[in-house]
Amino acid sequence: MAASSSDRLIIFDTTLRDGEQSPGASMTKDEKIRIAKQLERLKVDVIEAGFAASSEGDFAAIKAIAGLIKDSTVCSLSRANDRDISRAAEALAPAERKRIHTFIATSPLHMEKKLRMTPDQVFEQAKLAVRFARQFTDDVEFSPEDGSRSDMDFLCRVIESVIAEGARTINFADTVGYGVPELYGKMIRTLRERIPNSDKAVWSVHCHNDLGMAVANSLAGVMIGGARQVECTINGLGERAGNTALEEIVMAVRTRKDHFNLDIGVDQTQLVSTSKLVSQITGFTVQPNKAVVGANAFAHASGIHQDGILKARDTYEIMRAEDVGWSANKIVLGKLSGRNAFKQRLEELGIALDSETEVNAAFSRFKELADRKSEIFDEDIMALVSDEQHSHDNEYYRFVSLSQHSETGERPKARVVFSIEGKEATCEAEGNGPVDAIVNAIESKTESGCELLLFSVNAITTGTQSQGEVTMRLSKAGRIVNGVGADLDIVVASAKAYLSALNKLQSKAEKLNPQM
Ligand code: KIV
Ligand code: ZN
Repeated sequence: MAASSSDRLIIFDTTLRDGEQSPGASMTKDEKIRIAKQLERLKVDVIEAGFAASSEGDFAAIKAIAGLIKDSTVCSLSRANDRDISRAAEALAPAERKRIHTFIATSPLHMEKKLRMTPDQVFEQAKLAVRFARQFTDDVEFSPEDGSRSDMDFLCRVIESVIAEGARTINFADTVGYGVPELYGKMIRTLRERIPNSDKAVWSVHCHNDLGMAVANSLAGVMIGGARQVECTINGLGERAGNTALEEIVMAVRTRKDHFNLDIGVDQTQLVSTSKLVSQITGFTVQPNKAVVGANAFAHASGIHQDGILKARDTYEIMRAEDVGWSANKIVLGKLSGRNAFKQRLEELGIALDSETEVNAAFSRFKELADRKSEIFDEDIMALVSDEQHSHDNEYYRFVSLSQHSETGERPKARVVFSIEGKEATCEAEGNGPVDAIVNAIESKTESGCELLLFSVNAITTGTQSQGEVTMRLSKAGRIVNGVGADLDIVVASAKAYLSALNKLQSKAEKLNPQM
């Protein structure tokens, strides 16, 4: 069933909130600000910047984003209680357009086992929460958490009452990714048909990808259910198997306009750079075969396909790489490029550094890189800025230098110099491989005792001249963090990534998960 007339689909990005709930994806305030600015450039309608009551850090990040973002609505999540809602309102105060998103679980399982509340108590709390939130803004969203496993009669009762209290958006959450497209879409349609005041709210979909159907469920919610807002994240980032991928929704709706007949405000040429930024900051790499933003999404290896593409592009291509922001590894700068050219390229890439000191620091990193690598691509510039910021954030440990020796048949040895609160330390160790030796050397000094959960190396551009970007995921006492480091030498990148992860573990910033 195609949508009857062309209307608008609201894109609600929750990378900075639900995406960040993914273990290890936690971001600093500055990182959140960089992503929020890029989301504004991408022209998403709503940016869910975080969960204000979860930590001082998240509160400060939402407040800063609320003061900076002009074109998108800025939103904070809050549980359905006065304290959370007041915190959200306070953090959002500077925003030109603000939204409070409040939620409470409505499924029998969550109410009984998690909330230990009766349905009547949940009903009352939902109603009071929306009433309270409306004191701060007209733009209030309500989500029945675990909506897709909730009783329809109870949902009708709760949703009717929150709309009567002034909720403008009803976000039907498939919290555990249990939905299947047809049933999920029909649930929304039934709710809209049965709830007398349903037309007073915009209906929204929020799907998790546990069965790999988040995008399909979201689109069914739109087409069958009549939802007009999709909640999604860049690269589908999110807890467990992630959330609905923003880039897939945007390109599905645009490419199949004949079917969906909906308008979206997103600037699709910003999709690839946004994807790269989120992956560089969080350390969650994008699989090569990922739709739209994966490195192979537009690569045609088979001879038959290549032949077809040369004859007529649309034989095997339904979208054009350049339309989503792929710019075939353009050489942008070189050894002789000056500070002004570098600064201008930063601006073109949407990287706004806070001060001239930061621009100077980035420029001197660029010069160092250009001395070692003749061709500098956009990806290199983005990586060096991220790397600079990673090493500045919570800078307890800072990489200085290393030397490393490997020879066939011998155990690799490493010597690492790094500073601990500004004081230099030197350490040496052997290991099973060069990276193992580096980690052993660092551990011999820091004695962090953390567990390494993931070590991954990615080439930032093509060819053996490429910088390597390393992600190290560490866990300690139930906390999981990702460290990212980039360098032409992947052993150096590994040391930087390990120290960056230790810095994150070092910062005491504890964050409450809203759904626990
Ligand atoms: O998945 C979920 O239920 C959520 C809600 C807070 C909307 O993220
Ligand atoms: Zn969610």
